[in-house]
Amino acid sequence: MTHATDIADYLARHERKPLLRFITCGSVDDGKSTLIGRLLYESKQLYDDQLAKLERDSARHGSQGEAIDYALLLDGLAAEREQGITIDVAYCYFGTDRRQFIVADCPGHEQYTRNMATGASTADVAVVLVDARKGLLTQTRRHSYIVALLGIRHIVLAVNKMDLIGYDQTRFDDIAAAYTELADALGIRQVRAIPMSGLCGDNIVARSAATPWYAGPPLLEHLETIAVDHDDAGAPFRMPVQWVCRPDQDFRGYAGLIASGRVQVGDELVSQPSGRHARVATLSVGDSARESVEAGQSALISLDHEIDVSRGNVLAAAASACAIADQFAVQLLWLHDAPLMPSRRYLMKIGTRTVNTQITNIKHKIDVNTQEHLAATRLLLNEVAQCNIALDQDIAFAPYAENRTLGSFILIDRTTHATVAMGRIEFALRRASNVHWQALDVGKAARAKIKDQIPRCLWFTGLSGSGKSTIANLVEKRLLALGHHTYLLDGDNVRHGLNRDLGFSAEDRVENIRRIAEVARLMVDAGLIVIVSFISPFRDERRMARERFGDGEFVEIFVDTPLAVCEQRDVKGLYAKARAGLIPNFTGIDSPYERPQQAELVLDTISEQTDALALKVVDAALK
Ligand code: ADX
Repeated sequence: MTHATDIADYLARHERKPLLRFITCGSVDDGKSTLIGRLLYESKQLYDDQLAKLERDSARHGSQGEAIDYALLLDGLAAEREQGITIDVAYCYFGTDRRQFIVADCPGHEQYTRNMATGASTADVAVVLVDARKGLLTQTRRHSYIVALLGIRHIVLAVNKMDLIGYDQTRFDDIAAAYTELADALGIRQVRAIPMSGLCGDNIVARSAATPWYAGPPLLEHLETIAVDHDDAGAPFRMPVQWVCRPDQDFRGYAGLIASGRVQVGDELVSQPSGRHARVATLSVGDSARESVEAGQSALISLDHEIDVSRGNVLAAAASACAIADQFAVQLLWLHDAPLMPSRRYLMKIGTRTVNTQITNIKHKIDVNTQEHLAATRLLLNEVAQCNIALDQDIAFAPYAENRTLGSFILIDRTTHATVAMGRIEFALRRASNVHWQALDVGKAARAKIKDQIPRCLWFTGLSGSGKSTIANLVEKRLLALGHHTYLLDGDNVRHGLNRDLGFSAEDRVENIRRIAEVARLMVDAGLIVIVSFISPFRDERRMARERFGDGEFVEIFVDTPLAVCEQRDVKGLYAKARAGLIPNFTGIDSPYERPQQAELVLDTISEQTDALALKVVDAALK
């Protein structure tokens, strides 16, 4: 055999070794770095230069005297992370003769829950670390909750630092029993508790003489042999389309990662949610043509005739297609510093599809420590809740219990594009499909025509006391005098009726504006020129309002009066009260006002008279 084929053979053998992805949960204090460091070191997976560096660093600034400080290995990664080199999660790769491993090491601090969720989303196994002296902590419970939420079915409970409790079996058994109870409550099926010491190397790679009462395998052996069932291949075929490939006029292929099942040339598929059918003409993986492909592979599929398939659609087995819905009961983990606003719109990314969505109801929060259900109107960082969610379009989906890919999603802030939540679909709520949009014979254009006007929404925004209502009032009088049919929706007035149930918390303001946007839309549909005068302090909601209307229908008017001036005028005496602490959440004082960036009109009430400003608005309204 030549040297070259030797290497090729070696690489091929390694490539075929099954891969196990696992995540470690716990904090530096639990001894996580030392544990992983030792795993890498003792499975001889360090390159010579890493090893030499580790020995050098240990001697220089290790905490273990002459011995090797394994924690330095991972701390090197942590330092990288702090410098922003590895952004979220540090992945380590190592292997043994039996398996290859990818470890996602996630920081344990509370604010890093999001990173943990990122690392866990593809993992097969989670190694949950606890300090034998401390037992289960809130953090242990939260991590386990996320692990369960993400559908990881196998947990290794690493009861670490056994050396510090004299390898006490009773203590170990107590911790293991408490954890089994927690795992049962979370629906995690498989837990293996292992007594270990990362520092002394007990039960990491080799069985320890210090725990003769422990009959199970050491950590590495367990990871090498644990059977992770990929039962996705037996399920019906589903592939979210990632990319439409059109190299030339003659070929059109659909690329994606197969989420479940298998497919063969000739099989009948349906493109969802559109519902069009076609048969598979060709299949390929990479450059090579295949007769069949299955879950876990990235494939390119071409069809026997052209149907409309685009990115975000799901190709599914025609005989057992995905369910389709636009409202769901979901479980949500909130990952952002700013709280969840139930009426705000967020982007939902599910599979390869991105749609607009809104949390219609927080049913209850879940206390991750006790599993208790708690009433809630908002969700804060790291909180978990059962919610209802509504999309503005139908999607093909599967409940999470059936399919991890088509049943899990993230929510994205529409302005900052930050990931704000992750969640899973429990089941679809059928309500929407029973309420159909009624097609009406008389339309907006016809209604507007008898009034001889172009229906519009004139949306005034600005601080309390900025002059919105004064100008809006002049505008309405002027339009009426010109023979137009108008209606003025004013914050102070609507809050006495339709919105009397709403206060001034951020959530209530979001809901306030959502309702007003809907009412204004109906009125524009009725053919009216609608004048809206609300503080409407948040950009997101003004944008949401804008999106309810057609091109040119929505005119955003920013009444740009500085806070100091509004406060000095203080027509209603509210600023004085707010300053005295009598009105909480007062806009401009202790609740934010987000200045418009793309208003159609900006009115300067200091250098111009209100009459002149009103005429400008009237001009814009009749353009
Ligand atoms: S919005 O923020 O939700 O758009 P909206 O325009 O409906 O507010 O109501 C604002 C009016 O309510 C103000 O002009 C003021 O008269 C009154 N008000 C009472 N409490 C507050 C508060 N905390 N912040 C702002 N305005 C308040």
